[in-house]
Amino acid sequence: MPSEPPRHVLITGASSGLGAALALAYARDAETLTLLGRDGARLATLAKRAQTAGAEVRVVQACVTDRAAMRTAIDKADNHAALDLVIANAGIAAGGDGDEAVDVLSVNVLGVWHTVEPALARMAPRGRGQLALMSSLAGFRGLPGAGPYCASKAAVRVLAESLRAEWRPKGLRVSAISPGFVDTPLTRRNRFPMPWLMQPEDAARRIVKGLARDHAHIVFPRRLALLARLNASLPAAVADRLLARRALSG
Ligand SMILES: NC(=O)c1ccc[n+]([C@@H]2O[C@H](COP(=O)([O-])OP(=O)(O)OC[C@H]3O[C@@H](n4cnc5c(N)ncnc54)[C@H](OP(=O)(O)O)[C@@H]3O)[C@@H](O)[C@H]2O)c1
Repeated sequence: MPSEPPRHVLITGASSGLGAALALAYARDAETLTLLGRDGARLATLAKRAQTAGAEVRVVQACVTDRAAMRTAIDKADNHAALDLVIANAGIAAGGDGDEAVDVLSVNVLGVWHTVEPALARMAPRGRGQLALMSSLAGFRGLPGAGPYCASKAAVRVLAESLRAEWRPKGLRVSAISPGFVDTPLTRRNRFPMPWLMQPEDAARRIVKGLARDHAHIVFPRRLALLARLNASLPAAVADRLLARRALSG
């Protein structure tokens, strides 16, 4: 049975792509949206659209790698109105080495933790609330040239599994989200084929539905998810040969 729509939703990485689509998807039914990102202008434009749809919208400019700022932002949001749903969505994709690799791990892993930690501290005493952690099909098996990104998304998925096992008996809901390719600024830089590329609105609809049904792991699109699962279950010797071909072709 789907649950009642959440009244107060906080989304990190709301200024673009999937986060913005999720904000608009929740704008009609939620009473309050807290939209967090770094780009104030993009957040303000989105806030206007979400307000038109009916929600009270609060915008927070913060970097998810700043642990203290994230605690302050989440405490403030929760003081305004109890948070029902927190979506740790902010993330970046970049090359596999140097400062970029460190940034990917900081934003995608620590950034998620900095979101989840203070949200849990608020929800735990109430014994209710929902956390959604943005992983990816890229986290199912390490791919050449994308080690830090794949590792970050695997870490997020496993973190969600642990938190769900720990907190579900105490009334909290926790889900991991693993989309395939979604047409956003993050993927528009890719120079390789992206099968079953989806629009962010379509992805957001699937996520909203999965969260309303408290699915442990929201995975889509189905055909790419099947391939990702198959790839993850291949013996190392077979995977090594396949992935070496991919590495050579760039
Ligand atoms: N697109 C896909 O195919 C796909 C597939 C699977 C998973 N994902 C995941 O979905 C999430 C959203 O990606 P997207 O495709 O929507 O990318 P996007 O359009 O580039 O959006 C990324 C969002 O993250 C925010 N962000 C980045 N660094 C941040 C930081 N340090 N602090 C706060 N916010 C930060 C950005 O906001 P500011 O620029 O305002 O800071 C932006 O709103 C990511 O976690 C990504 O890994 C995407």
